Amino acid sequence: MRGLPVTLDWDDAPAPQPTAGVPGARRPFSETAPDAGTGVDPHAAELDSAGTATGLGSVEAGAGRVDVSEKRMINGRADVNQLLPMKYTWAWDKYLSGCGNHWMPTEVSMQADIALWNSPGGLTDDERLMLKRNLGFFATAESLVANNIVLAVYRHLTNPECRQYLLRQAFEEAVHTHTFQYICESLGLDEGELFNMYREVPSITEKDAWALQYTQALEDPEFRTGTPETDTQFLRDLIAFYVIFEGMWFYTGFAQILSLGRRNKMVGIAEQYQYILRDESIHLNFGIDTINQIKAENPHLWSEDFQEEVRGMLRQACELEVAYGRSTMPRGLLGLNAELCEEYMHFITNRRCGQLGLAPVYPPAENPFPWMSEVMDLGKEKNFFETRVIEYQTGGGLTWD
Ligand SMILES: [Fe+2]
Ligand SMILES: [Fe+2]
Repeated sequence: MRGLPVTLDWDDAPAPQPTAGVPGARRPFSETAPDAGTGVDPHAAELDSAGTATGLGSVEAGAGRVDVSEKRMINGRADVNQLLPMKYTWAWDKYLSGCGNHWMPTEVSMQADIALWNSPGGLTDDERLMLKRNLGFFATAESLVANNIVLAVYRHLTNPECRQYLLRQAFEEAVHTHTFQYICESLGLDEGELFNMYREVPSITEKDAWALQYTQALEDPEFRTGTPETDTQFLRDLIAFYVIFEGMWFYTGFAQILSLGRRNKMVGIAEQYQYILRDESIHLNFGIDTINQIKAENPHLWSEDFQEEVRGMLRQACELEVAYGRSTMPRGLLGLNAELCEEYMHFITNRRCGQLGLAPVYPPAENPFPWMSEVMDLGKEKNFFETRVIEYQTGGGLTWD
């Protein structure tokens, strides 16, 4: 028996409302707006010199105890080394959900996949192309997302509850990268081809290059949040990686592999993608809650102009994904083709707009893959791909009873 209950936190789960200001706060968020003359948040500048934004500054012996009302998502003044008292319980809940969903790729048998892959007529040429490009996109995408968390996001989220979740997420991204190493090794794929697709397949290069421009903006060691410009830069990065990379660009890939799994093809990989999808659903929801909480605490950042800019980012990202769909499925497969993926991506893009409180980018779009929600419901569709799950010793894992 497993010690922890399985926790599902799917894409369709209602997002919690941003945490309201705590009564008795010494300095309401609205009073921490940047100085009108300089555009610089004076409290953020104070923080940097004391080093408390990173948590690695000198210990302030005898300093006043942390008041929960001082905790903030960005430009916070409260000591980031103190998880308690807790303010953002939604972030902690996601940390617990992630821990409850622990899994490892090596728990999934690859025997059926290996047999099918090596069988001359097992997969069509179109299915092989789709599978290889799909794996090629994910093989490096997981590292790009992990690097963004560790090297760009972590430093600027000045809140220990959120940082606790980021540490969990970073480990999950490592598990996902491990999955692609395990698939590559199991099927005997050309590792150079797989891990270089992001530099050699234009539709993948274009997506990754588009996202990287947002994390590169934060890469400068001198970069600090605390001005409207830099706070907005940080929000752009969160939107590019959480909402677009993990929340839009992974979904064509999920639909492709889960579609194969539904036809009893590459069932081991399909099961691994099912686990990844469950993790990514929480990553996406964490990103959306984080962005909405920052908006609530810094309403001046969410201007009409910026909202339009974000809608433009989502539209561009959707177009890049549609091009990727065409390059992975030039002729279409059984039950799946580039046109259906385009329709699906319009549906997803509109949904992400709604989750950010934005007007939809596209006319109302239907979900052409209603079965995706069934596949995502692991409890309901147990043994969906008829693979066997090995008992996990310490985590929650999946329960198939
Ligand atoms: Fe991932
Ligand atoms: Fe992720």
